[in-house]
Amino acid sequence: MKNIVILISGRGSNMEAVVRAAENEGWPARIAAVISNKPEAKGLEFAKARGIPTAVVANKDFSSRAEFDAALQESIDRFAPDLVVLAGFMRILTAPFVAHYEGRMLNIHPSLLPLFPGLGTHQQALDAGETEHGATVHFVTAELDHGPVVAQARVPVLPDDTEDTLSARVLVEEHKLYPHAVRLFVEDRLSITDGEVRITNAAPAETTSI
Ligand code: GAR
Repeated sequence: MKNIVILISGRGSNMEAVVRAAENEGWPARIAAVISNKPEAKGLEFAKARGIPTAVVANKDFSSRAEFDAALQESIDRFAPDLVVLAGFMRILTAPFVAHYEGRMLNIHPSLLPLFPGLGTHQQALDAGETEHGATVHFVTAELDHGPVVAQARVPVLPDDTEDTLSARVLVEEHKLYPHAVRLFVEDRLSITDGEVRITNAAPAETTSI
């Protein structure tokens, strides 16, 4: 049984997708906690209603990134995570924090990385005249929205798209992509060695029985 700690900053729809998939598909994992840097994050309500432990480590209570990250790390580690899942967690993380969770922290970003890191990805894709856009799940490294890619989902950009229509189309895919990637990790089918992502098709038990 693997412990997953999910970090959110707001709506939490990706967190919700992961929680629902874990329950519905019977993953060998438990959602050990949902932690937010914003006390008002909507997603906390869903987690509480599901009986998932929640915590708030508010960045506004800390005077430096280093202090905030240290407090966040302490809060996360109380739940002994095998995997930390960033689900709309809108904070730049310090290098020591990232190093502490090396190989066991995933992020989802709403673009086809390496295109459009940072904020406003959907408008950036429209402004660039892209005909294709999407979302990326990647292992977290110290550089924002970089790090080895685990999986991507693609959607078309339609001629009359606005930021809202495009982000809605991408979000539908995020809700499938992120549970898929997290499931690979909890089933020991996803790993990273020397910056290289390795995905195996079958769960180890299935592989060895062949
Ligand atoms: C998602 O679209 C996620 O990809 C994005 O924030 C949204 C959070 O929505 N993350 C980033 O931009 C990270 N750089 P949610 O709270 O409903 O999951």
